[in-house]
Amino acid sequence: MHKVLIWDLPTRIFHWALAGSIGATFVFAYGFDENDSRFQWHMLAGLIAAFLLVVRVVLGFVGTRYVQWKYFFLRPADSLSYFRSLFRGPAILYAGHNPGTSLVALLMFALIPLLVLTGITQEWEISEDLHAGLAIALAVAVGLHLAGLAFYTIRQRDNISAAMVTGYKTAPINSGITSARPWTALVLVVVIAAWVNALLGTYDTRQATVKIPGLSGVVHLGENKKWKFWD
Ligand code: HEM
Ligand code: HEM
Repeated sequence: MHKVLIWDLPTRIFHWALAGSIGATFVFAYGFDENDSRFQWHMLAGLIAAFLLVVRVVLGFVGTRYVQWKYFFLRPADSLSYFRSLFRGPAILYAGHNPGTSLVALLMFALIPLLVLTGITQEWEISEDLHAGLAIALAVAVGLHLAGLAFYTIRQRDNISAAMVTGYKTAPINSGITSARPWTALVLVVVIAAWVNALLGTYDTRQATVKIPGLSGVVHLGENKKWKFWD
């Protein structure tokens, strides 16, 4: 088997930006008291994760082959034969996401909007309860993701994690994409940086409010305020 180009640069940039923002939400949520102004960074990181997800949805339609939505494999029969082959070895090779990463990635993609929704509607008691539970579910999903990568690496003696850095993965020789799309990556970086800059530009530390670029709502980030999206 050969190392072939599977993950284009936009996907890799999206991945590490998402991992960073999700990591930050947990660090700031558990690292600081809710009354500490630094807790507000928890919510800013969550809003950034939400924007990254919007970008990812678009990439799922316009991106290179393995980023597209149709390349996520969820059929129980596929998953069963994949996991059987993984435990017995050698694993069935998937050029893009295997059934394991397909499932865990889609789980994360579903949990993040729910977390943001319950995060910005904290004035409702139900949101408060749900938010903490959803956060645990996301932590479990990330844990499964990392455990899956570690298991694959040991079992297959193939460092699959490197693929999200270099773009190259062990896969059948003719399965690669032809370009890493550096220009699309540049546009992506500019768009993400501009959005984050616009978000932080509206951030009022004293009032603990922020406006979402492109939307008319104000989000209250302070513990003693009522969180109301449309204000
Ligand atoms: C909070 C941390 C993380 C989150 C939220 C996360 C999330 C994701 C998501 C959503 C995907 C699917 C990519 C897509 O289709 O757009 C993915 C794939 C992947 N991630 Fe992560 N990730 C995290 C940490 C890591 C770390 C630390 C590594 C490496 C050590 C890693 C390596 C990979 C690899 C190699 C894939 C592709 C797997 C495949 O071949 O299907 N991730 N991750
Ligand atoms: C992917 C995004 C997010 C993740 C992973 C996440 C995760 C968490 C975690 C782990 C906690 C601590 C729960 C506990 O103490 O048991 C928390 C609390 C909180 N989060 Fe988030 N969150 C996200 C997005 C947001 C957003 C966008 C907002 C608001 C704009 C928000 C507002 C809050 C508030 C107000 C609390 C304190 C709630 C309480 O303890 O009563 N979160 N979040």
